[in-house]
Amino acid sequence: MSPASMTQKYSTISPSLAVGNDEPDRNLALELVRVTEAAAIAGGHWVGFGDKNTADGAAVDAMRSFLQTVHFNGVVVIGEGEKDEAPMLFNGERVGDGTGPEVDVAVDPIDGTRLTALGINNALAVLAVAERGSMFDPSAVFYMEKLVTGPEAADMVDLRLPVKQNLHLIAKAKGVKVNQLNVMILDRDRHRPLVEEIREAGARTKFIMDGDVAGAIAAARSGTGVDALMGIGGTPEGIVAACAIKSLGGVIQGRLWPTSDEEKQKAIDAGHDLERVLSTNDLVSSDNCYFAATGITDGDLLKGVRYSKDKVLTQSIVMRSKSGTIRFVDGEHRADKWEGYARKS
Ligand code: FBP
Repeated sequence: MSPASMTQKYSTISPSLAVGNDEPDRNLALELVRVTEAAAIAGGHWVGFGDKNTADGAAVDAMRSFLQTVHFNGVVVIGEGEKDEAPMLFNGERVGDGTGPEVDVAVDPIDGTRLTALGINNALAVLAVAERGSMFDPSAVFYMEKLVTGPEAADMVDLRLPVKQNLHLIAKAKGVKVNQLNVMILDRDRHRPLVEEIREAGARTKFIMDGDVAGAIAAARSGTGVDALMGIGGTPEGIVAACAIKSLGGVIQGRLWPTSDEEKQKAIDAGHDLERVLSTNDLVSSDNCYFAATGITDGDLLKGVRYSKDKVLTQSIVMRSKSGTIRFVDGEHRADKWEGYARKS
């Protein structure tokens, strides 16, 4: 069934899915889950096939098709894929059915393309939406230093402080010792000095191969066993994570990290101060933003897509900052309706 006919079918079942015209309303959250479910179902067929670009392409195509059925007038302001020439939903692309609220859209059809290709945990299909003009424009600086932690220490940490001092502030705010903290960090050579600083301060490190959107969520939520996320990751992923953190509470701070003189110049020409620490509000200024993600591979946050003869099972999370509500959504889809998204070879 095409996305359009699925929408038609759903709207007859549930007329309340219609949303207001002025600003994104709460029903948008569930429409967004349909989009990330579609991306995860399409991309999930490629789990373990060793081909990250094809997996990403499948997720991008499904996300694009389903985005066209969403009742909003969206512009992709945070596209994804440029840095490794992956297939992409490009910046400036118009999405949505063109009616309803005007919004900025940040897409990450697969956060963790390598995780997907290798069948490793924690790959997600992700989408974030906020009022038009409220998402930060990184001017093609692909990396950002990040510091994420939960609500307890949100007003205390500062990316400009030494790592040790931030860890002490987090420990104090959480009422624990520094040696009880777990700091999540992407496993990259560039992080060696940071890892040393974390260990010297006495905190423990928890490495991830990829997927710092899931990492940021883990750092902001309580009960995950992760107290902070530190290190350099994608700027798009940082902005997407900021939309989630607006709902979850907590903080993400970022500082642009250009990797070449050309990138640096571009950012300066666009008016960025490269020393500036960007707050959650700088990354997304709207207090009416949405975040949706569906598991592709199994993970700490969500189960991955399960395919059987007659069903496809998905698990998603959706958040809306205005209410701060977080919902987990289990989807049970009829396999025959999704045959068009299955791997052909
Ligand atoms: P992709 O799935 O787009 O490859 O992104 C995965 C990811 O790990 C992000 O979560 C992270 O922000 C970024 O890549 C880090 O970039 P790099 O792999 O170049 O260090």
